[in-house]
Amino acid sequence: MTDEKRTEGKRKECVPRHVAIIMDGNGRWAKKRGLPRLKGHEQGSESVRAVLRACRKTGVKYLTLYAFSVENWIRPKAEIRGLMSLLIRFLRSEEHELHDNKVRLRLIGRIDDLPKEVQKEAFRVMKATEHYESGQLILALSYGGRTEIADAVRKIARGVKTMEIDPEKVDEKTIGQYLYAPDVPDPDLLIRTSGEMRVSNFLLWQISYSEFYFTNVLWPDFREKQFMEALEEYSRRHRRFGDVE
Ligand code: FPP
Repeated sequence: MTDEKRTEGKRKECVPRHVAIIMDGNGRWAKKRGLPRLKGHEQGSESVRAVLRACRKTGVKYLTLYAFSVENWIRPKAEIRGLMSLLIRFLRSEEHELHDNKVRLRLIGRIDDLPKEVQKEAFRVMKATEHYESGQLILALSYGGRTEIADAVRKIARGVKTMEIDPEKVDEKTIGQYLYAPDVPDPDLLIRTSGEMRVSNFLLWQISYSEFYFTNVLWPDFREKQFMEALEEYSRRHRRFGDVE
């Protein structure tokens, strides 16, 4: 094996397979500049594009983004409308990039709650990219970790009722199988921007063993350089999954 190949192998080991991000700080970014909140979300969309590109460059296969939580529905109607139209714009403008890089789009969350136009656009792009295997962009929309677990438990309860599931055999694996994207590996790295140190109901089941990375950078300022810094920090950590050295 050449030195170059060995280094490449090592680099791959250090790169997380799945990165999940709580994109926070759009509103504060805008406020600091005396701009409407939506401008912060617009710049946040640019960060999404930059990070998606950085994933392709570094070999991160799965990227899950917390784009809209179940709690976000209480925001002012105009902000929600603005966010939804940004999403549609993003899906339309980014579709060719997904095709070029063979990236599959997926959604997790209570998708039925979303405006019909968002659903239509998202389902169209999901269908068009469903066969790609190079990477996955997973958007969490109207998503809540507790809601996801409750939805899984309800499906399992139905299975028990129809006697398709033996209640004595319900274990961690069973619950995992009824989550929104059961085949996606758990995140290796969870990033949260804007200095908040909370999980905020994101991927509660899946982040049991994830490494956490918090940064003060506001999401609209989080671009390739900041993403690389997070990956560097990740590569320095030693994950033991409860085992000894
Ligand atoms: C949190 O910032 C951010 C959101 C609730 C929405 C995230 C949406 C985007 C980045 C843009 C659209 C998404 C995609 C996938 C194209 P905040 O508004 O809570 O900020 P604050 O805490 O500073 O007020």
